[in-house]
Amino acid sequence: MAHATDPPAPEPAHGGEPGPAPRTPDDAAVRSHVTLCVNGVHHDLDLDHRVTLLDALREHLDLTGAKKGCDHGQCGACTVLVDGRRANGCLLLAVAVDGCEITTVEGLADPGGALHPLQRAFIDHDAFQCGYCTPGQLCSAVGALREAAAGHPSHATADTPPAGSGPAVLSAEEIRERLSGNLCRCGAYPAIVGAVADASADAAATRTGADVIA
Ligand code: FES
Ligand code: FES
Repeated sequence: MAHATDPPAPEPAHGGEPGPAPRTPDDAAVRSHVTLCVNGVHHDLDLDHRVTLLDALREHLDLTGAKKGCDHGQCGACTVLVDGRRANGCLLLAVAVDGCEITTVEGLADPGGALHPLQRAFIDHDAFQCGYCTPGQLCSAVGALREAAAGHPSHATADTPPAGSGPAVLSAEEIRERLSGNLCRCGAYPAIVGAVADASADAAATRTGADVIA
């Protein structure tokens, strides 16, 4: 029931649906207009400054592929690609990535439905059990392959040849190190390493949503 002290109801927008509530001075202090391009689709959002990228994706855009595991940057289940580089969605505020290109697991397959090479390799290797960590593993693997292809060294990279002199050679040790930020409670690690090793032979395995749409 409405009370005399309630603010006026927002004017109905198209089709009689209530429109967004008008901004108040207090809103302006805690909310911002944020633009995200997610899997090639442009989104304009009005978000509280405290909303993380992960919650913006899951709660505001209904993209529930990226999972909330720890919400503390420790499990990697929320990994997405931000401008082609992997990031923990739970640790980033959405306002901090305003204008960025985001790729989630939903954006890895091409629009025609053909699976991304890493998705195909994960299936071929049965590289998941419960599957909860798998979206983050997939996005992280795409980022890891992009970094290796660009010659970025990891903690496991040998000094000879010198780091940065070309694409990194992806030994099992390299793959384990580069994906060490992603935890899998089911312990599917051997199959995940095998899947990433197989997919690394395919140049298309480094493509992100932006590449797929382009
Ligand atoms: S939910 Fe983000 S790292 Fe665990
Ligand atoms: S497949 Fe279950 S947590 Fe990784």
